[in-house]
Amino acid sequence: MPKLKFNHVFKRFGDIEAVKQINLDVKEGEFMVLLGPTGAGKTTLLRLAAGLETCDEGDITLANRNMHSVAPSERDVAFVFQQYSLYPHMSVYDNLAFPLRSKIRNMPEADIKKRIGKVAEVLRISHKLQNKATKLSGGEMQRVAIGRALVRRPALYLMDEPLSSLDAKLRADLRVELKRIQQELGATILYVTHDQIEAMTLGDRIGVLKDGEIVQVGTPKEIYSNPNSDYVATRLGLPQINVLPKQCFDEHFSEEDVAFVGVRTEHLSLKASGEGKYSAVVRRVEHLGDQCHLHLDFHQEKITMLVPSNTTLKPSERVSFDFMNPVLFDKAGLRLRGITY
Ligand SMILES: Nc1ncnc2c1ncn2[C@@H]1O[C@H](COP(=O)(O)OP(=O)(O)OP(=O)(O)O)[C@@H](O)[C@H]1O
Ligand SMILES: [Mg+2]
Repeated sequence: MPKLKFNHVFKRFGDIEAVKQINLDVKEGEFMVLLGPTGAGKTTLLRLAAGLETCDEGDITLANRNMHSVAPSERDVAFVFQQYSLYPHMSVYDNLAFPLRSKIRNMPEADIKKRIGKVAEVLRISHKLQNKATKLSGGEMQRVAIGRALVRRPALYLMDEPLSSLDAKLRADLRVELKRIQQELGATILYVTHDQIEAMTLGDRIGVLKDGEIVQVGTPKEIYSNPNSDYVATRLGLPQINVLPKQCFDEHFSEEDVAFVGVRTEHLSLKASGEGKYSAVVRRVEHLGDQCHLHLDFHQEKITMLVPSNTTLKPSERVSFDFMNPVLFDKAGLRLRGITY
């Protein structure tokens, strides 16, 4: 039985259809990530689940209960906002205690202390509990914001790009920690982001959002290796998959409708001069330490290839290459299951 269910959900703001025909099940203990660019409807979806917006059509159920007329405060959910909002005049401890001290909970201080102690340990902020909330680094503040959600032990966590305001190193550290915490607690999380690495590393499953619609749902591996459109294919993978008009290739395709051919950077391979089926000219060599991206001019198009970091290739040199595992698309960008031969 799904923990959270979106059933044919629509949300409009005037003429804007922010969320369209969303059908989604999030299972108990699942880390579900929705991946989409700015304006795709991510925040709106979370706000609908939290009860901060109401659905124009369809309904949302949490633990099999229709949430339609359930107030946000009565839904057993915790929301971690994109911009962390702590009470600046309070200590870290009091910030964490705040949701537990509500009259409805009536939780004894000794229990609150125990629970905060555990969460602070998990988040590695035990030594900061007496600090003022303002006297913390950005990463620590974000941990406290996540901690405020964790102490409540809700049925469902809603997280709106909680790591996006952090620097790259902290983001990577917290990403690993968040996954560990989720697994330790068996928490059910609906997490939205525009960051493909977060989606790949955090998600048990990923839903790809486009203009308010979920266009594909699957495990990270399924979405990466079996995208149903060029839109989905280009969401995952760094550098991005190469998508070129079929006229660039001499291959024969089993389907007539093929218009574009997708080739992932790791499926292109350099060959000794003249030994590959195709040739291209080096435009730029991008050294990234552990890997190197080779940017090539190929017919009128640009392609990118992963090559060993010790490459000595230089701009204007001609290279020979082959490819494998092409992904075929029609002119609308939809995936075709045809083969090349
Ligand atoms: N309260 C509102 N009134 C009018 N339009 C809104 C409102 N909230 C969202 N929208 C519109 O709905 C669409 C989806 O917005 P939403 O905030 O859900 O996107 P998002 O995916 O969270 O984007 P971002 O990555 O920038 O946070 C956008 O076109 C946005 O302008
Ligand atoms: Mg948003």
